[in-house]
Amino acid sequence: MNMKNAQKKQAAEATLKYIDSDMIVGLGTGSTVAYFLEALAQSDRRVIGVTTSKITSQRCAELNIPIVDIDEVDHIDVTVDGADEVDTYLNGIKGGGAALLMEKIVAKNSRENIWIVDSSKVHDTLGSFPLPVEVIPYGSGQLIRQFADKGLFPKLRRQADNNQPVVTDAGHYIIDCHMQTINNPYALAEYLESQVGVVEHGLFLAICDRVIIGGETLQIQSRQ
Ligand code: A5P
Repeated sequence: MNMKNAQKKQAAEATLKYIDSDMIVGLGTGSTVAYFLEALAQSDRRVIGVTTSKITSQRCAELNIPIVDIDEVDHIDVTVDGADEVDTYLNGIKGGGAALLMEKIVAKNSRENIWIVDSSKVHDTLGSFPLPVEVIPYGSGQLIRQFADKGLFPKLRRQADNNQPVVTDAGHYIIDCHMQTINNPYALAEYLESQVGVVEHGLFLAICDRVIIGGETLQIQSRQ
């Protein structure tokens, strides 16, 4: 196992101490969450999961982790998810795995949000990871033009094998914005939210309560 994966696994396993039996647990998407699902399945915690993607639902079925539809629960105790980038305020970029819409819905309905990351994801300023924006396919070319005019360096996400647009679980496209640095994430979020055709964006601001960072020494940071 390479160093990044070892750190993801370390962070994922350390998260178990925040999970009690009988909790309703939001389950994110991605390779770090995959380690968490394995650790959860091997533990004595008997939780009910609320998933954020088809792939996480499939993995839960394989691991015998029971799941329910988000609308069947009246609350979610805690959600455990990965992130593509996280800054010192615990704001972050998510959506590298194209699951940002359901991840944000589950996160917003959770009493607590814990992110698990390897140390390479932590930066002073967001933006080195391209910001995913989930959009309606109709008119997406027009949005790409508008984003380019705004200096967001947009690129439609395409599948590596056939060059077709990536389609999310909810049937949308993803435009990745390659800005390198996001100086004011709140202003950018406001701009994106005001564009017709934008369904959701990958800026997760003031959502994460605790980040668990794998590394030589495990770090746990809480939002002030
Ligand atoms: C999924 O859309 C993303 O938000 C993931 O949570 C994020 O990409 C982290 O993925 P890894 O754990 O695979 O790095």
